[in-house]
Amino acid sequence: MPNTLLSASGLERSFYGVRALNGAALDVRAGTITGLIGPNGAGKTTVFNCLSGVIPCEAGQILFDGADITGLRPEQISQLGLVRTFQIARGFPKLTVLETLLLHGDGQPGENVLTAVFTPGRSRARERDLIDRAREVAEQLNLTGVLENMSSDLSGGQKKLLEIGRALMGRPKLILLDEPVAGVNPALAGEIAERIAALRETGLTFLIVEHDMDIVARLCDPVIVMAAGARLTEGTFDEIVADRRVQDAYLGQRA
Ligand SMILES: Nc1ncnc2c1ncn2[C@@H]1O[C@H](COP(=O)(O)OP(=O)(O)O)[C@@H](O)[C@H]1O
Ligand SMILES: [Mg+2]
Repeated sequence: MPNTLLSASGLERSFYGVRALNGAALDVRAGTITGLIGPNGAGKTTVFNCLSGVIPCEAGQILFDGADITGLRPEQISQLGLVRTFQIARGFPKLTVLETLLLHGDGQPGENVLTAVFTPGRSRARERDLIDRAREVAEQLNLTGVLENMSSDLSGGQKKLLEIGRALMGRPKLILLDEPVAGVNPALAGEIAERIAALRETGLTFLIVEHDMDIVARLCDPVIVMAAGARLTEGTFDEIVADRRVQDAYLGQRA
């Protein structure tokens, strides 16, 4: 497929005999916001874990931006430009929003404003670059007004945006978002969706797991449907909603 940024195929992963992934495959074209949906237990989070190297897959191949990233460690994968956020926003340390972003500065893991401060010689310019990047990221996410606030004091929606901000610091090409609007009210969900759409306009590509179908309908094209550890189908939101197999997969969940 032309412009394919990410291509995974034949992914297998079991947990204690339970097959979480059973030959899962997916492609993400550059410049899209691709949705990944499916009933609970379909294997969506496990796909994210395998793509980002958090959990090794037992079989399959993952190609990203022209490189075979199968089996690479998470920090190697994020350095190549594939980063993820987590379903449950991890706790934020006792830092301001600005400091939280600086901790996730681009470059090598562990290389951030703190190490820059303790590495005389190249520290000043590096620190300035990181602060510029953090301000730019805050601007893109509408967080400029709260840069000096403690991260822990942010609203639920702002925390979600800050989580995206941490991912953005390293100038990724592809961001995996696991339920970016889960647990936030509809108005904020709409704002987060707007920010994601605006980021796509700057050239970023997204793969998004989201249960809120209004958000999927609004943001995602194409939408990939997973069931039982494999890709069931893929299409526009309208196409997959009209697909009997997709309806059955979700109904099977309730049965
Ligand atoms: N770390 C794990 N340990 C044991 N089982 C897991 C683990 N991660 C996922 N699973 C199992 O794998 C299957 C797929 O889960 P998951 O990828 O979380 O699905 P989804 O995100 O689509 O709801 C489920 O049966 C789940 O219980
Ligand atoms: Mg999940």
